[in-house]
Amino acid sequence: MTAAPVPVLSVCDVHKRFGAVHALRGVSLDAWRGEVLALLGDNGAGKSTLVRCISGVHAVDEGEIRLDGTKVTFTSPSLARRAGIETVYQDLALFDNLTPAQNFYCGRELSFPSWLPRGLRFLSARAMDRETASVIDRLRVKLPRFDAPVALMSGGQRQAIAVARATVFARKIVILDEPTAALGLRESRKVLDLIRQLRDEGNAVILITHNMEHVVELADRAVVLRQGRKVGELKPDRSNQHELVSMIVGAEG
Ligand SMILES: Nc1ncnc2c1ncn2[C@@H]1O[C@H](COP(=O)(O)OP(=O)(O)OP(=O)(O)O)[C@@H](O)[C@H]1O
Ligand SMILES: [Mg+2]
Repeated sequence: MTAAPVPVLSVCDVHKRFGAVHALRGVSLDAWRGEVLALLGDNGAGKSTLVRCISGVHAVDEGEIRLDGTKVTFTSPSLARRAGIETVYQDLALFDNLTPAQNFYCGRELSFPSWLPRGLRFLSARAMDRETASVIDRLRVKLPRFDAPVALMSGGQRQAIAVARATVFARKIVILDEPTAALGLRESRKVLDLIRQLRDEGNAVILITHNMEHVVELADRAVVLRQGRKVGELKPDRSNQHELVSMIVGAEG
């Protein structure tokens, strides 16, 4: 007897208000292991707000979020992370005064929790530097100096550090909010490769992007938000790209 499959993440009828702004108006979606779900919508549609609700930055006003079928309420991003949700935020959220390696392991190096991949639990600072460098190297992004604080790095270099960090610690769900927005062509390609790899390793990857080429190339499913509501869902391919764009801008029919 096999149980019916349960989505790794369910967002159920979620509302979020910021004063008079009703940013999410009853959004529901499921994400499954081993798929790339594109979360699409125009500027201000509510994508980043939804990401922040899932990853413990905002509390939802109504509705609920379930992980593997169980309701969760994360009161901080670190609790969401501990539960297996790795997020690359649109505003990146790196610590400016720390080096790339310190950013990678910040909050994880002190406690040696059991959820940390076994090989990483007792790494020395040197080994952390090496591990971080090797992942960033896979992205083909050149950093000026590895021991410099990230405040001195470019937007693309910072983005690469944030994406690389998420890929190292991914265990269940990886949310990437416009991960290639600041990247050059070559670096973007590498990020797309990493996303495929994360999916093939069994993660659910939620990708927010305005790049429709990337959506068609990579996404197994796309969910479209408009003005805080889910207005459509489809399996993107070349033939329905126009339909998708119409959903995003609100001119379908
Ligand atoms: N912390 C906040 N306080 C007040 N209003 C907010 C806050 N965060 C988001 N909003 C508002 O909620 C709405 C949705 O914003 P959100 O950042 O989720 O959009 P988005 O879909 O990510 O857009 P973009 O593509 O530009 O990143 C917008 O009207 C925005 O102004
Ligand atoms: Mg956003």
